[in-house]
Amino acid sequence: MKVVVTGAGGLVGRAVVERCASHGDDVRGFDHQSLDISDTSSVQTALNDSKPDVVINCAAWTDVDGCESDSGQAERANALGPELLAATCRDIDALLITISTDYVFDGSKEGFYTQRDQPHPISVYGRSKLEGERRAQAAWARTIVVRSGYIFGVGGKNFLSTLLPRAGRGEPLKAISDMVGTPTYAPDLARRLRELAAVDLPGIFHVVNSGQGASFEDFARAALEMAGLNSALLKRVTLAEFHRPAPRPRNSRLRCLWSEALRLEALPHWTEALRSFVSLQSGSASAAG
Ligand SMILES: NC(=O)c1ccc[n+]([C@@H]2O[C@H](COP(=O)([O-])OP(=O)(O)OC[C@H]3O[C@@H](n4cnc5c(N)ncnc54)[C@H](OP(=O)(O)O)[C@@H]3O)[C@@H](O)[C@H]2O)c1
Repeated sequence: MKVVVTGAGGLVGRAVVERCASHGDDVRGFDHQSLDISDTSSVQTALNDSKPDVVINCAAWTDVDGCESDSGQAERANALGPELLAATCRDIDALLITISTDYVFDGSKEGFYTQRDQPHPISVYGRSKLEGERRAQAAWARTIVVRSGYIFGVGGKNFLSTLLPRAGRGEPLKAISDMVGTPTYAPDLARRLRELAAVDLPGIFHVVNSGQGASFEDFARAALEMAGLNSALLKRVTLAEFHRPAPRPRNSRLRCLWSEALRLEALPHWTEALRSFVSLQSGSASAAG
């Protein structure tokens, strides 16, 4: 399969390039510097030159608090970008898979959000991502939207990759205890994205690791325990105490009715995925130190 990955320098983008390469795909990754997805002519040139069978869009402006104070940049990266990719995919008859977020929901539901739940974002980031889903789907029928949440993996700027080194240095840590989501390991997400490329069935998928979900505190405590680090360093805080510019959904756990109907194998439990991540992190820390 000939695959183009946008946002290839990011946490998920890197995992997707790696996954597709290990599959033997002809994969071309564009990082932000080599392709700005909100620039029409750059998108057209990149896709017309590459002629992919599938485009996996991992590019987004993911700074949730930054988006709150610059809705223009959020709209360009998260809404216009997917729309331009979809329109160009239509021109070359390529499948588009574009990643979205659990933050399209407001968090007021008890239990898991499915495709039957009406999105109602409460932040600029969430609104821009929902707009991106809709504009991409309107521009091109062969669009798959993949919502995910609480993504973690090696090498990114995510919560866990900074937590473990800080705990290793004995620094005090804080984790929010009253916000729950479904943790998702980037390599597991990448594997499912590649499977969905083969399935080629348009629609909205929710892709997360299995389990009942976790708060950031649950997640952090489990990681510290698995890494053999001192969890007494961790202080639980509430979302309100964190004073972040952007509101966040208190519950954004996802469940995928489509994957169940298609009998796709459930992704591993998040604790199993976390164990893989922690052992890789510990391995790279000891190699570096
Ligand atoms: N991380 C999570 O917990 C999470 C949860 C749910 C959904 N998601 C979604 O998952 C996807 C991948 O996110 P991630 O975690 O891999 O985030 P990430 O590490 O921040 O990667 C996003 C990449 O997109 C690039 N980018 C930003 N604006 C761009 C533009 N206009 N054109 C091209 N590239 C651009 C960024 O480059 P620069 O850094 O150079 O700007 C970055 O390399 C996104 O759609 C995100 O909304 C993430």
